[in-house]
Amino acid sequence: MKKVRLGIAGLGHVGCGLIELVEQQAGLRLPGEVEIVGVSARSRSRNRPVSIGAYRWFDDAATLAEDPDVDVFVELMGGSDGPAKFAVETALNAGKPVVTANKALIAMHGQALEDLAQSRDVDLMFEAAVAGGVPVVRVLRDSLTGVTIQRVTGILNGTCNFLTTEMLRAARSYDDVLDEAQRLGYAEADPTLDVSGMDAAHKAAILASIAFTADLDFNRVSVSGVDTIELLDLVLADRLGLRIKLIAEALLSDQGVVCRVAPMALPMHHPLARIDGSLNTVRVEGPPLGAVTLTGPGAGAGPTASAVMGDISKLFSPTARSPFGRANHHVRRTFVDAAPTERSAFFLRVKLSDKPGALASLSEALAAQNVSVDKLLQDSADETGASPVAIMTHVCSRGDMRVAAAHVAGLSCTVGSPQLIPIDSMA
Ligand SMILES: NC(=O)c1ccc[n+]([C@@H]2O[C@H](COP(=O)([O-])OP(=O)(O)OC[C@H]3O[C@@H](n4cnc5c(N)ncnc54)[C@H](OP(=O)(O)O)[C@@H]3O)[C@@H](O)[C@H]2O)c1
Repeated sequence: MKKVRLGIAGLGHVGCGLIELVEQQAGLRLPGEVEIVGVSARSRSRNRPVSIGAYRWFDDAATLAEDPDVDVFVELMGGSDGPAKFAVETALNAGKPVVTANKALIAMHGQALEDLAQSRDVDLMFEAAVAGGVPVVRVLRDSLTGVTIQRVTGILNGTCNFLTTEMLRAARSYDDVLDEAQRLGYAEADPTLDVSGMDAAHKAAILASIAFTADLDFNRVSVSGVDTIELLDLVLADRLGLRIKLIAEALLSDQGVVCRVAPMALPMHHPLARIDGSLNTVRVEGPPLGAVTLTGPGAGAGPTASAVMGDISKLFSPTARSPFGRANHHVRRTFVDAAPTERSAFFLRVKLSDKPGALASLSEALAAQNVSVDKLLQDSADETGASPVAIMTHVCSRGDMRVAAAHVAGLSCTVGSPQLIPIDSMA
């Protein structure tokens, strides 16, 4: 193809960013010409940062997807189901390549969409769906095929990273910083998908599937977010030489692929510990490479649209690729739950009522499960009469630690819910 004719569905941040790039393509390094033949969104009359008057309007994204003038369908509406899914399926069924930034759609339905794309021998591309402008999907899928990947870790949600960074930097509460993130446009009006860890989990599942040739199974991804993290946790962890961040992790166990998103405590020398603010980062480890880390803007109209354009530029060559980079001769793995015997050190923060023996009860509850203390900090009682205690444990089994933490939570001297966060010792 010397010219690619686009149908763009979704004219929000990313859709308008893409139109701007197409209009400025003379300054880009595309292999041929890109033309927009039609656009679609919910409202035709909405004020947008770019003019859409020159393009054919479609009320329905699926009609645009199957229009005979459209060579490539670009889905930028969002949502794991509904019109986005239907329009993508329509385009693939019509034998048209699809480019999307929709991580929810790919995480929830990537497997079925891959089967559909392959049955029609067309491309389904989603570089922008993971880490926005950071080119990680193609690097994992194509550039690192010579690496036996053992682990992928990352900071995949800029809002959560901004929250934990800014709370600690300015000693501000979670709610206060979340308000600011919404004012600055980092966080959505409804930030639930971000702070619950779900947005990062969508991206982590996609990376895990590519890295380990695993059938994507989002139901096996374990997810927790930053919505329970208090300033107290960040401050005490900092005094123990740890940074708490929302970390996405995918690794290969004997049983299959473990994929999870959760707050993790990182030693200061950890490569992800100093990734601050709204940046995204992905670190891939495995022989014979060692490790490689990609960092950059994980969201925003321009960076995300540039990733969409990168996918479009690959479609000038006519051969379709497996969306997740798989071939029939690859080992096909499955997603599994993490084994309880997996080992880690932990950061445990507890508030204890100011009674004699409280600290001893805490130590006994830990010792009963073979959890031993490496470092311990105790502050004076706060205005409620409870004294915060932060513990860094030695490496122990995750299963034992979970049981110990449940016992600690049930102690009569424990006030509120303890905070339990694994420490990533990798450096
Ligand atoms: N924003 C980012 O930084 C970023 C980064 C990476 C990936 N993404 C992904 O990119 C996609 C688009 O994100 P965005 O930030 O551009 O979203 P957005 O600003 O909310 O825009 C969504 C667009 O889709 C249209 N739309 C929504 N629901 C629709 C429906 N049911 N039928 C027809 N049109 C519909 C909207 O129409 P109206 O304008 O008429 O309301 C709007 O134009 C999402 O999948 C998102 O996860 C975004």
